[in-house]
Amino acid sequence: MHKKWWKEVVVYQIYPRSFYDSNGDGIGDLPGIIQKLDYLKELGVNVIWLNPIYKSPNADNGYDISSYYDIMDEFGTMEDFDKLLQEAHKRGIKIVMDLVVNHTSDEHKWFLESRKSKDNPYRDFYFWRPGKNGGPPNNWTSFFSGPAWEYDELTGEYYLHLFAVKQPDLNWDNPKVRQEIYKMMKWWLDKGIDGFRMDVINLISKVEGLPDDKEGEKQGGLIGFRYYANGPRVHEYLQEMNREVLSKYDIMTVGETPFVTPEIAKLYVEYDRNELNMLFHFEHMDMDCSGSKWNIKPWKLTDLKKIMYKWYLALKDKGWNSLYLNNHDQPRMVSRFGNDKEYRVESAKLLATLLHTWQGTPYIYQGEEIGMTNCKFESIDEFRDIETLNWYKEMKKLGKSDEELLEILNKRSRDHARTPMQWDDSENAGFTKGTPWIKVNPNYKEINVKKALEDKNSVFYYYKKLIEFRKRHPVIVYGDIQMLYENDEKIFAYTRNYEDERLLVVMNFSEEESEFLAPKEIFTQKPELLISNYEIDDNIQEKIVLKPYEARVYKI
Ligand code: GLC
Ligand code: CA
Repeated sequence: MHKKWWKEVVVYQIYPRSFYDSNGDGIGDLPGIIQKLDYLKELGVNVIWLNPIYKSPNADNGYDISSYYDIMDEFGTMEDFDKLLQEAHKRGIKIVMDLVVNHTSDEHKWFLESRKSKDNPYRDFYFWRPGKNGGPPNNWTSFFSGPAWEYDELTGEYYLHLFAVKQPDLNWDNPKVRQEIYKMMKWWLDKGIDGFRMDVINLISKVEGLPDDKEGEKQGGLIGFRYYANGPRVHEYLQEMNREVLSKYDIMTVGETPFVTPEIAKLYVEYDRNELNMLFHFEHMDMDCSGSKWNIKPWKLTDLKKIMYKWYLALKDKGWNSLYLNNHDQPRMVSRFGNDKEYRVESAKLLATLLHTWQGTPYIYQGEEIGMTNCKFESIDEFRDIETLNWYKEMKKLGKSDEELLEILNKRSRDHARTPMQWDDSENAGFTKGTPWIKVNPNYKEINVKKALEDKNSVFYYYKKLIEFRKRHPVIVYGDIQMLYENDEKIFAYTRNYEDERLLVVMNFSEEESEFLAPKEIFTQKPELLISNYEIDDNIQEKIVLKPYEARVYKI
């Protein structure tokens, strides 16, 4: 068994802008995080992943970095960061930083230089190309709507930006770019950080010649990705990064990788490849949409089971999975995969049970541990996210109504994840003494940390229990998985097996009571109930009737 500390931990993701504001300017900050470390210690998590905290003009909330060696003004200073690192370590909590190196801000000094003239030494740090037939160099489109190219008057050429206009793509084919990045990574690692979450890391190698994507144009949706997702030199670059940087430290790495299948993922995470420890794939995030994230359709439990089991099998004994159901780019999981009305608490606990009893490293997104939900946005002015705002503008041009667009955004906007953390029932949910940069979810009087800590049956304490459980039962981390009820649309059930420990997990993903018939070899062994999200006290019978969103974990 390939034992590693990063398989045994639970990661807690912090979106600093929305976590806790210590100085009343309406924006969360590093001192705010320090003040809440004891809360995270109480929850029991071992690692914090911080969304970007580097200097940034915030076109995309820190994913547009203007200096990799400085802290964003609104978040504090490098002294604050050093203190955060020290205080976290004191409590046995590691810090993983976001690494955003597919692109920089257009205000980064490399780009400011690069844009000055065609023969500037930094020109080749980015992708500059002359136009074609009076338009951009190719037909690629941006993740944030519109073309992936921006014209720059000064030199009469276009630059590539797969994301916002203010996020020009770095040219990884230039060895100087790679060396600058490795140097910067070492600088942070030498400070003592414990790893990196690598932003869209599988997009860094573009096909030479940046060809037009004819196929993509026919299909619609995002055009161009087949020429840069998992591109020709990406493994060469990651192996180089591993050789020169990662392998020199005892850290964890997780790559954010859209457009990967388990077969492709193996190339990034198999132990003998020396690239990354694990990935965030998107297959389960794509279950409830078709073509693009805005085209919503219902999801099916059998799809979720198939996807999770397929990934488990593919990486079994050769690599490792990360487990998440939401993050700063996704709607809140309880609103999307559970029921955020009458079964909010039950379904939040059910989803937690899945994340913490499947094989892989679980990632909790801030607020998930108290069952925070999507927010009801009343008008377009309440949104802040560039992806949302650009898409809205594009759709308005096509003649769509506000009503229609709001309905989609109220399910899908990234801002659902970004409303402030709900600490208590005082004004602004206790997030800030000033005016919050984005609206607070109006349900904060009902759903908040203070209330959760006062109620022993809260979602919070259920998470705490699952996290403790992981620490005491190696079967959770290292055990293999056998699926039961594979084709059932309501029941998700499996056993976990490791050495002489065996668990049975049974979950009802529906609003109706559902029956589970235990295999004989299980119920005859008088399994013992370890965890459940309803008050029950029974040993397993041949037949169990599960209540809506009920989840149970038994020791066999
Ligand atoms: C990743 C981040 C997202 C960001 C994008 C561009 O997908 O998670 O928040 O907007 O990359 O950096
Ligand atoms: Ca602040």
